[in-house]
Amino acid sequence: MKNRWSVEKGAPLTPMDKKILAAQKAGHVVPTRSMIRTPEEIEGIRKSGELNTALLDMVASVIKEGMSSGQIDDMVYQFTMDHHATPAPLNYEGFPKSCCISIDDVVCHGIPDHNTFFKPGQIVNVDVTTILDGYYADANRMFIIGETTPEKKRLVDVTLECLNIGAKACKPYSFVGDIGFAIQCHAQKNGYSVVRELCGHGVGLEFHCEPEVMHYGRPGTGMMLVPGMVFTIEPMINMGTWRVFIDDEDPYGWEVISDDELPSAQWEHTYLMTENGVEILTH
Ligand code: MF3
Ligand code: CO
Ligand code: CO
Repeated sequence: MKNRWSVEKGAPLTPMDKKILAAQKAGHVVPTRSMIRTPEEIEGIRKSGELNTALLDMVASVIKEGMSSGQIDDMVYQFTMDHHATPAPLNYEGFPKSCCISIDDVVCHGIPDHNTFFKPGQIVNVDVTTILDGYYADANRMFIIGETTPEKKRLVDVTLECLNIGAKACKPYSFVGDIGFAIQCHAQKNGYSVVRELCGHGVGLEFHCEPEVMHYGRPGTGMMLVPGMVFTIEPMINMGTWRVFIDDEDPYGWEVISDDELPSAQWEHTYLMTENGVEILTH
């Protein structure tokens, strides 16, 4: 393994340096020092996270049957602007709106529009990413429109359990694969599958950066998780197959749909790795 973790010549090794260098020597992928956030950066991301949470709370208070996804998007844009922040999705790699709204069999990256009206029984994911003073926070939640079937409700609940179980698996100096393994076990135990083509990611100074946080995998594999790293966990759990597709006729090429068009759910938070486990920055 390359020497990713650099130490200043002559500087004394901290306990953290020692753990990372030992893992590197044993062949593990370790982070680079550039992936460790400073206390000041963490404060910035935390503030952005607070706004992100307020934004999702606002969505929770208004979303209902008969409203269009485009209306929610307009409100996300306005609320973000009113708080002197920017919605990260807008114009991100050609994405045309301020948030992602993914209904039923849309796995993620659904594009809000003014002709898509929420109907009773739908399960709806709203994913918002806020840039405040240059700091990014990324989270999403599921909303149920009116009453849904017990099957869809269970998918939504188990997916949230998957997120929480994944977060609990994040011990300092554990590995990305530990998160994926925990999530995959819980999903499969419940008869569901884990989407593989999309993953969580480093976040904070950018929208998406290292590490890739897979929601499936083997314990002890993938990048080591070190205090000071900030990343998302955002499992997409499918009722049927884990396979997904993008419609050839989709003019934007963003919306991801389950292959069998069965429902899919997702929950996401931005997390800070600490010496005592992860802290949610988007509470
Ligand atoms: N918020 C999504 C994520 O969790 C990314 C959406 S990219 C966008 O990583 F352009 F569609 F907004
Ligand atoms: Co994300
Ligand atoms: Co997101």
